[in-house]
Amino acid sequence: MRLGIISALHEEQQGLVEAMERPYKLMHGMREYFLGQLWEIDAVCVLSRIGKVAAAMTATTLVEKFGVTHILFTGVAGAGAPSIRVGDIVVAESLVQHDMDARPLFPRFEVPLTGLTHFSSDRHMGLQLADAAQRFLAQDFAAAIDPQERAVFALSGPRLHRGLVASADEFVSGRERIQALGEAFPGLLAVEMEGAAVAQVCFELGIPFGVIRTISDNANENAATDFMRFVKSVASRYAFHIVRQFCLGINASSLP
Ligand code: ADE
Repeated sequence: MRLGIISALHEEQQGLVEAMERPYKLMHGMREYFLGQLWEIDAVCVLSRIGKVAAAMTATTLVEKFGVTHILFTGVAGAGAPSIRVGDIVVAESLVQHDMDARPLFPRFEVPLTGLTHFSSDRHMGLQLADAAQRFLAQDFAAAIDPQERAVFALSGPRLHRGLVASADEFVSGRERIQALGEAFPGLLAVEMEGAAVAQVCFELGIPFGVIRTISDNANENAATDFMRFVKSVASRYAFHIVRQFCLGINASSLP
């Protein structure tokens, strides 16, 4: 197994490269790829930057140039429903591109000529990610997140959710907009800007993948402010510990 780990922003992956054994940096297509061992897993870490094209380019390069066999996307997202709270964790079971609209040629949200609106993540990786997130919440959360930050974001008893994630080249920052998306996609858990692009690339290349997101904001009028604060002070702690727990879990069970 060689695991590609993508995040959009530095803060969503902070600490991982430092945790790598014998890291080796290669530049390609204006990105730095760090190759090495993460808790005994052969890994390649890279920042995609924001958006679907950036994510698709990065995922494709990881597979075609760096030979990764599995891809993990880790980062933050806006809440897709009122029941999802800042600090909760979402593991994607399926992903949709909510800005895809080739009507009247194809049905709304369908990726033309694939016949698909929803792309499923790898079931086994999803289970491993959910286990890793549960272990993070139970074992690491209390020590990893500063009490002051916990108070600022009212992070009390964060929960894990599994289900639908919607991506687009759009930062969702309006109450009515997120409500409309919730109505268009029943069961929507989170909105972000990369996951479904990685999902399409992995579907087309036959690569198992997983997407895990920490909720940074409510995708409403306060989203940009909350997002910046959360990403700076909390997101990197979540990402580091979840990836660590994921790698330890793989060592214990071994992915097919
Ligand atoms: N990533 C984090 N918050 C987001 C939001 N509100 N919209 C899109 N992507 C996000």
